[in-house]
Amino acid sequence: MEDTAPVLEMIGVTKEFPGVLALDDVTFRVRPGTVHALMGENGAGKSTLMKCLFGIYRMDAGKITLGGKECRFNSAADAMRAGVSMIHQELSNVPERSVAQNLWLGREPLNGLHLVDHRKMSEDTRDLLRSLKYEFDPGARMSGLSISQQQGCEIARAVSYNASIVVMDEPTSSLTENEVAHLFEIIRDLRQKGVAIIYISHKMEEIFQIADVVTVMRDGKVIGTYPVTEIDNSKLISLMVGRDITHRFPPVESVIGEVCLQVKNLSALNPRSFKDISFELRRGEILGLGGLVGAQRTELVESVFGIRAVASGEVLVNGSPLRKLTPLNAINAGIGLVTEDRRSTGIFPLLDITVNTTIPSLGKYRNRVGLLDHRRLTEVAKNQNEQLRTKTPSMATMIQNLSGGNQQKVILSRWLMTLPDILIMDEPTRGIDVGAKYEIYTIMAELVNQGKAIIMVSSEMPELIGMSHRVLVLCEGRLTGALAKKDATQEEIMRYATKFIKEFV
Ligand SMILES: Nc1ncnc2c1ncn2[C@@H]1O[C@H](COP(=O)(O)OP(=O)(O)OP(=O)(O)O)[C@@H](O)[C@H]1O
Ligand SMILES: [Mg+2]
Repeated sequence: MEDTAPVLEMIGVTKEFPGVLALDDVTFRVRPGTVHALMGENGAGKSTLMKCLFGIYRMDAGKITLGGKECRFNSAADAMRAGVSMIHQELSNVPERSVAQNLWLGREPLNGLHLVDHRKMSEDTRDLLRSLKYEFDPGARMSGLSISQQQGCEIARAVSYNASIVVMDEPTSSLTENEVAHLFEIIRDLRQKGVAIIYISHKMEEIFQIADVVTVMRDGKVIGTYPVTEIDNSKLISLMVGRDITHRFPPVESVIGEVCLQVKNLSALNPRSFKDISFELRRGEILGLGGLVGAQRTELVESVFGIRAVASGEVLVNGSPLRKLTPLNAINAGIGLVTEDRRSTGIFPLLDITVNTTIPSLGKYRNRVGLLDHRRLTEVAKNQNEQLRTKTPSMATMIQNLSGGNQQKVILSRWLMTLPDILIMDEPTRGIDVGAKYEIYTIMAELVNQGKAIIMVSSEMPELIGMSHRVLVLCEGRLTGALAKKDATQEEIMRYATKFIKEFV
């Protein structure tokens, strides 16, 4: 492996943003036919390095060579033509068009009459998809596909350009277990064909499953590059965070009190969503909500919070029913919701961190004459973000300029500032690095210790099992299981998550 020449070299790359040295003299070499993981805490500079590669950001200094030749791309499209592809998390497809149209956009095959050869386009697409073992129709609308299928289209596009390098930035964050297995199969296939994969992820288990080599970044610098066989989990963590982390979960020692939230026979307005869901949440309790992607967990918690309409059922807080399920009523009743998808429902990209943190709290920070207490508001917002170690040059920075994980911390700060009695957290640690995960778990443990209650939707089994007092499992919109801590094993949760079982305890 050492002796093959690198397909990609990034040498001495430096990139500064106002107040942040995002990349500090980074040198990064990738060899063909390897899965090269890029790891590091939130804000370490991983995405920025890739954006420099694709010409989305201009480097302040440094050099990039591809197959030994110096190159500089001006856009992702430019890079793609040179065989360097990126599988985006926010997928860049045109939703109203078909799979085939998306795949060949701007380079459609033409027939003898110089018209688009739809038949060839659709056949080529079918062949490509088949070679990747995806089973969907080239004529299907993009908007009708699942995340995994859309991702498949992006991979197919990369393959169609004969990519020599494929970058994947947190590719598994919305995939089910089977879809992840499928993706890994494709990655191994590409590697076999000599393609280099640059793989960015915060999921440690994945790295040991799929990567050959790991480069660790911290604070804009490369700490080192290691063959996966030479490091283990705890070594990797300490390289990333610069200290040892001995436990993955803090002890949760809260006292379980009386019922604070009751959900009674709640059914979604959309008949294909959840049906007839009833459960209770107690003070001091962390209630996990498990299930596969698509089980309607997000729909359920968003309905409890009043974002989605329900057909029937009710929600009671401390014994009194919420008259109408609206977010404002929910907030006033002491419920907070940390949303799953910060990009589309969570952040106001062009506003600063203070505003993004304080929006739902404005009503709670008034001075004696009833005016907004700006000073206190700003101060509390700052403290809250400091507590979570949100990495930012200042509170006046636009949130869109923060790294993904740090945006998530701002959203969590936002809801902690409303001092909710009941906090609903939908995938609270998605995209968050190991060090910050522990901080979030610690805050959860503190909150329940103070008598607050938490509902946590999570697709990460270890976290669901490690943090919850009880785990409810949903499958296809039905509650299929309720497991006490001692019974909540990975196997049990999966059993209920995959099968609709009518009688449950
Ligand atoms: N457009 C920008 N303007 C200002 N600062 C930026 C911009 N893009 C990134 N940064 C800063 O550069 C640093 C590196 O961010 P980057 O997004 O590369 O981190 P990351 O390693 O990808 O983190 P994560 O795991 O959270 O995605 C961060 O401090 C971030 O706030
Ligand atoms: Mg990133």
